[in-house]
Amino acid sequence: MNRATLDVRSEEPIGTISPRLYGWFAEHLGRSCYDGLWVGRDCREIPHTGGFRDDVIAALKALPVPLIRWPGGCYADHYHWQDGVGPAAERPRRMGMSCDLQVEDDNGLGTHEFMQLCSMLGAEPYLAGNMGTGTPQELCDWVEYCNGRLRTKLTEQRVANGAREPFGVRLWGIGNETWGCGGNYDPVYYSYEYRRYATMLRHVDRNTELVVVGYDDAWNTKLVEALANHGYLIDHLSIHPYFFRGGAELGFSVDDYYALLAEACEIEDQITRTAAIIDGVFGGRRNIGIAVDEWSVWHPEVRNFGPGASTPRSPVTYEQASTLRDALTSALVLAAFHRQCNRVSLANQVHIVNLLQAPVMTEGARMWCTPNYHVMRLHTPHIGATALPVEHTTGDSLPDGRSAVSATASRTATGMAVTIVNAHFDRPAQVTLTGCDDGRTGSAQIVAAESAEAMNTANDPDHVQATSLEVSRDSAGRWYVEMPPHSVATVVLA
Ligand code: AHR
Repeated sequence: MNRATLDVRSEEPIGTISPRLYGWFAEHLGRSCYDGLWVGRDCREIPHTGGFRDDVIAALKALPVPLIRWPGGCYADHYHWQDGVGPAAERPRRMGMSCDLQVEDDNGLGTHEFMQLCSMLGAEPYLAGNMGTGTPQELCDWVEYCNGRLRTKLTEQRVANGAREPFGVRLWGIGNETWGCGGNYDPVYYSYEYRRYATMLRHVDRNTELVVVGYDDAWNTKLVEALANHGYLIDHLSIHPYFFRGGAELGFSVDDYYALLAEACEIEDQITRTAAIIDGVFGGRRNIGIAVDEWSVWHPEVRNFGPGASTPRSPVTYEQASTLRDALTSALVLAAFHRQCNRVSLANQVHIVNLLQAPVMTEGARMWCTPNYHVMRLHTPHIGATALPVEHTTGDSLPDGRSAVSATASRTATGMAVTIVNAHFDRPAQVTLTGCDDGRTGSAQIVAAESAEAMNTANDPDHVQATSLEVSRDSAGRWYVEMPPHSVATVVLA
């Protein structure tokens, strides 16, 4: 048994954990939007509200989902928003293109439907603009259509399509992965294009928050330097960390297990390096946030690039096994976001349904939640709370030197929440929490299973789920929980 002690530094608040850090990514790719979220208004086999699956919406409402980025991804750079508004029967059928997948796209899920989804889930919309095959005019028109208050041809079109009030979309991405699928730009050339798009877009709506496409350190350095005199046009700089180094989705080794968790933890370094690049140019004169607007585990079976991807399943559908191991990476990443909540301004996990690290899976009329769903949900008490540092004082280490047991904590007016990860592959932990003795009543929930490879399926949908965990307190105000290996728990002290 690993005896681990974690000290919550309740007198050293870090900052507020914005709901925007708990965003999701809804891309028109494979079975994520079409089939996963959207079955269409005429569907008879699956219960839906206005075309959106009732079972999926109910699960997502309970997650919660405060922010959604749409419609891509790579898809965004082929997307023409006018195709997706107006009477469904009149919308053009196009080739939907993203990440080497080509699908027939009837444009049934367009801007109004996406706004309906956001309103059902209480989510903020974040729209990714087309810079690959689009124009500044097309993107300006979309902004005017969504946000315009004057009586114009575009706002009248919006009203005729059923939305009297503007949608008020604040977050706009100018392109997606412009260093690759979004046009293979060079960073300096992209910075010129970005300036043009951003300038024109702000003429239409000066309240928009704009996201410039970042990548690795070399790209970010050149990009930010090229934009040094135009910082006022940037609100967020995006990065897309994907975790590739965990070996197979199932049947992974202990080394693979630790490699994946270690890679997920590297996100914090990437965030601080990116922040240093921004600060190196803007020196605190401009508050530019880091938008981690795509992040997730991406296993080799469902990609044709990167480590171990020599024999992907064919065709690549981006649908992968989603195990408890994958869910642990989410808890480690969220802890990093909490620690860096003054720099990470928004984040979107990939994808919202069916693909990569989705919380919810569907198969025909059946729906189930992945371990990732339950782990993400354990974090609900932190949303909007004040992040607190947690120091690991005693206990075992992992192969990379990090503590096997780690935690993130936060405080609200009514109490404190501590989410603890026991990342050890096979050692349980007795965890002592110090520094949070303002709590009087404690309760805890845990997501655990017999194996790190455990997952849910259509036939066994509740194999991995959250259950209650015993929590106790001594007279000195220390709290205690016992956690099995590869598990995540949240202790709530009221
Ligand atoms: O999530 C799948 C793809 O990954 C997105 O379309 C793209 O932005 C990224 O490369």
